[in-house]
Amino acid sequence: MKKIFITRAIPEFGLSLVRESFPRLDIWDGELPPSREELVQRARGADGLLCLLTDKIDGDVMDAIGSQLKVISSMSVGVDHIDVAAATARGIPVGNTPGVLTDATADQAFALMLSAARRIVEADRFLKAGKWVTWSPSLLLGADFAGSTLGIVGFGRIGQAIAKRAQGFDLRVIYHSPNAQPAYNAHPVDLDTLLRESDFVSINVPLTAQTKHLVNAKFLAKMKPGAVLVNTARGGVLDQKALYAALKSNKIFAAALDVTDPEPLPLDCPLLELENCIIVPHLGSASKKTREMMALLAAQNLIAGLKGERLPNCVNSQAIYDEKL
Ligand code: GLV
Repeated sequence: MKKIFITRAIPEFGLSLVRESFPRLDIWDGELPPSREELVQRARGADGLLCLLTDKIDGDVMDAIGSQLKVISSMSVGVDHIDVAAATARGIPVGNTPGVLTDATADQAFALMLSAARRIVEADRFLKAGKWVTWSPSLLLGADFAGSTLGIVGFGRIGQAIAKRAQGFDLRVIYHSPNAQPAYNAHPVDLDTLLRESDFVSINVPLTAQTKHLVNAKFLAKMKPGAVLVNTARGGVLDQKALYAALKSNKIFAAALDVTDPEPLPLDCPLLELENCIIVPHLGSASKKTREMMALLAAQNLIAGLKGERLPNCVNSQAIYDEKL
């Protein structure tokens, strides 16, 4: 009988599919993720691991689980929490959940962009603090949206879905992304041009060694004065100290972050003091249907791996399968 460890309770939509083929599931039932030690202890001897982006899975963890491990399936599209090269070296396919969270994440980017531009969170706090005394021609003025330029850094599925939405808001869209074909009236430009021309900059690249702190002091200095920055990718893409300086000095108008580094963000992080910085707790894919679909895809990947079949969504498929062909 195959042993499977699932690092948190995920939607039943996915779990029930796994149970049909593999009734013996071990599911971590803590509200917090298992620590590294707890994960290794519970997963030791497992044939399949279904994990979340809160679990750091490196080569040592894989070795501690054991050489029988046949598949690592993450209920996430991003896999920066997994050492994919280490998995490939051990012949382990790594599954992810692309596509099903594209719309939800693009919606979140748009919600954040509009909220930052029109100071929605600040205005809500202002009103609830009893500070609203009258309508005023100069009260809480925000940034214009229609007719402005949106620059998308990373034109993959989510970047393109943002460009699609931007058409309905009369935005001019430019993007920077090596090798991505134009779509939805968005035009490719180099990064400097994007930063110089964009009123809104949306970050949509995966976190890799190349994109770590891509948004640093230099990047922020090149942004158009008064621009708005939105990050729905990964916290590690952004140097938060540099962002604090750019927001504090009003070099840029505002930022809206769905992701931070670390997560959760410590309560003494200076960004939390700023009215012009919206921060939400990594909710890009947080809708019921989206999470159900992510659980389903993660389950399908897990089952395929356990059966020795090709994972429907595999991030290291070329190295794992194609060279065996
Ligand atoms: C969310 O951030 C994901 O990678 O699925």
